[in-house]
Amino acid sequence: MKMQELHYFPGHMKKTQRAIEESIKKVDAVCEILDARIPLSSRNPDIDALTAGKPRLIVLNHTDQADSGKTKRWAAYFRRCGWAVLETDAKSGAGVKEFVPAVRALLAEKLRRYAEKGQAGRTVRVMVVGIPNVGKSTFINRVAGRTRAKAENRPGVTRSNQWVPVDGGLELLDTPGILWPKFEDQAAAMRLAFIGAIRDEIMDLEELACCLMAFLAEEYPACLTERYKIVPEPEESGYDLLVKAGRRRGFLISGGEVNTERMAKILMDEFRGGKLGCFTLELPPEACEGGEQ
Ligand code: G4P
Repeated sequence: MKMQELHYFPGHMKKTQRAIEESIKKVDAVCEILDARIPLSSRNPDIDALTAGKPRLIVLNHTDQADSGKTKRWAAYFRRCGWAVLETDAKSGAGVKEFVPAVRALLAEKLRRYAEKGQAGRTVRVMVVGIPNVGKSTFINRVAGRTRAKAENRPGVTRSNQWVPVDGGLELLDTPGILWPKFEDQAAAMRLAFIGAIRDEIMDLEELACCLMAFLAEEYPACLTERYKIVPEPEESGYDLLVKAGRRRGFLISGGEVNTERMAKILMDEFRGGKLGCFTLELPPEACEGGEQ
């Protein structure tokens, strides 16, 4: 897949790194939010190094859009890596009420020491990190039980440190800056594009739709039969399937040719809108990346 130049902002990444390094000293734990549909591709590649030494809670968000069986496998994987795990749908709020107890369990030892020193009410601080669009703002708002304007994800727009109070002596800090995903990894970039986490303007939508068709034909052929009334054959390419689906939908242009551009747009919109079902686009590796914690 040819992807046009992805705009990567090394300068902004440096700024974010510095801001995280500065703030990390002030927090007791790190809550890393991932998109359950692409748990590895939605990780920032530097996050382990940036937050090293801090207790970690992994939040698998967007579970309502992910394959539930595979979410369980991902949760088991991250637990095996030594991290606490929570499964949430921040949009509806499912799983979010487990957050405070999970933080307390994660920091049980520290809280016990505070209690021994007569500091039982001491505020616990958690930094919430994640790449754009994983649902950080939605999650923080849910946990804090509030509504607020979404923080800007655009580079160049400063997001000042904001401590968000939560009931029960807990404060959250939204990522100070913008954490980029693994842009250099083309397969990861494509998965981010599938779910709409990378702007469509920077890639060819039809090529993207062909790749998605090929993926669905391989992993979830039944959804193509159900939605587009097509049965993928082994020799058919993603493009062939796009043509087949477009023909079924009656998207024809003069001369009887299929309007593949229109079908591509429909496929991407319907996939992202959940019309084809719930999907997880990658599976956990055998061993923990970066070793056991
Ligand atoms: P960010 O701060 O990490 O950048 O993400 P943000 O909370 O802005 O969430 C990005 C989009 O994902 C929002 O949709 C939000 O509603 C949606 N979202 C967040 N968590 C979940 C989830 O668990 N499940 C589902 N289905 N969606 C989730 P949007 O279209 O940008 O805005 P809107 O629909 O809320 O208006």
